[in-house]
Amino acid sequence: MGNKENNIEKPGVKTLSIHHGKTFAEETGCVMPPIFSTSTFKHGNKDNFDYTRSGNPNFRILENILKLIEESKYCTVFGSGISAVTAISSTLKSGDKVLCESNLYGCTVRMFEKVFKKFGLEVLYTDFTNENNVKKISKLEPNLIWLESPTNPLLKVLDIKAICDEANKLEIPVVVDNTFSTALIQKPLDLGATLSLVSTTKFINGHSDALGGAVLTNNEEWNSKMLFSQKALGLQPSPFDSWLITRGVKTLPLRIEQQTKSAEFISEELGNHKIISKVIYPFNQEHPQFNLAKSQMKSGGSMITLKLNLNKEDTFKFCKSLKYFSLAESLGGVESLICHPATMTHASVDDKTKNLLGIDDALIRLSIGCEDTDDLISDILFALNKF
Ligand SMILES: Cc1ncc(COP(=O)(O)O)c(C=O)c1O
Repeated sequence: MGNKENNIEKPGVKTLSIHHGKTFAEETGCVMPPIFSTSTFKHGNKDNFDYTRSGNPNFRILENILKLIEESKYCTVFGSGISAVTAISSTLKSGDKVLCESNLYGCTVRMFEKVFKKFGLEVLYTDFTNENNVKKISKLEPNLIWLESPTNPLLKVLDIKAICDEANKLEIPVVVDNTFSTALIQKPLDLGATLSLVSTTKFINGHSDALGGAVLTNNEEWNSKMLFSQKALGLQPSPFDSWLITRGVKTLPLRIEQQTKSAEFISEELGNHKIISKVIYPFNQEHPQFNLAKSQMKSGGSMITLKLNLNKEDTFKFCKSLKYFSLAESLGGVESLICHPATMTHASVDDKTKNLLGIDDALIRLSIGCEDTDDLISDILFALNKF
């Protein structure tokens, strides 16, 4: 679209999410792109497609939208968030050190502990919310730093800029898993990160009907590494899933707006309930990194973590008695979900680590969907008031 001709200086994010550019089928006039369900391409085609493991029009369309909303130079899409984690981790070699935030998504930890350690990767963990631990970067000199903010499931907010400033002085690449926020709430590359990773299965797609992941960067060398991993490790998504995610991302700004509005309200309402001992939400004044969250994030997002004054059995009773929240893995969809991290998303993390972090049987995580706010809060309060 010719922005200058239309006198539009810079389109807003709602516009960018909808106008994905080239459909690779312009001659048909199609408004929505087709699904390019082909494994291979005839040699000599004008867009240089070769074989779907290393690229497909549906990947390019989705990559283009994600680049626009993140304002990054490059994007590579993968078959899942975990495929994106694999792509980045596989660039490390035996003897390399990765310094991770102590609270990461359980399957990221499992990949480091159960897969890459076997190949000689050294994996260290630290609580990056402690400023003194940021200083450890220069002492430990890791080959890669792995962050997540807000973290899954404790919603710790890390000072991405401060950590990246320290790492960039030493030319240490930093990965930020931005799955809980997406580029609509924070842009890790603008804060100094080398790579911004997102599970597109979650908010980006938003309809819990496809799996995907993406890595965004402004660094050409890292982009080549990601394209190589996509092709060499077979981490590519399917054209159909990429098409679904492209469709989903069009409503991302609208969904985030509604989900955030509800989450802010619900997190406040639950603050005084006798069955709840702690509400964790980045934009709640009691959150330990409230000021940082306010300056780093455009909104508090739509994930809420709660500590209940209930034993394990009653915690599950509560989870299962909700009408609009399904007890299920995952997050970020239009439908609200509830999760018990200790036995679900973080089941693969050892008990000692979970205890140290505070991921216990009374901890639950809510993913607030697009239902009416009043219905969601009534549902939660009704279920809580049974105890
Ligand atoms: C923070 C975070 N990163 C990565 C992933 C992995 O994404 P996927 O399930 O698409 O592989 C998840 C999944 O829940 C997640 O919560």
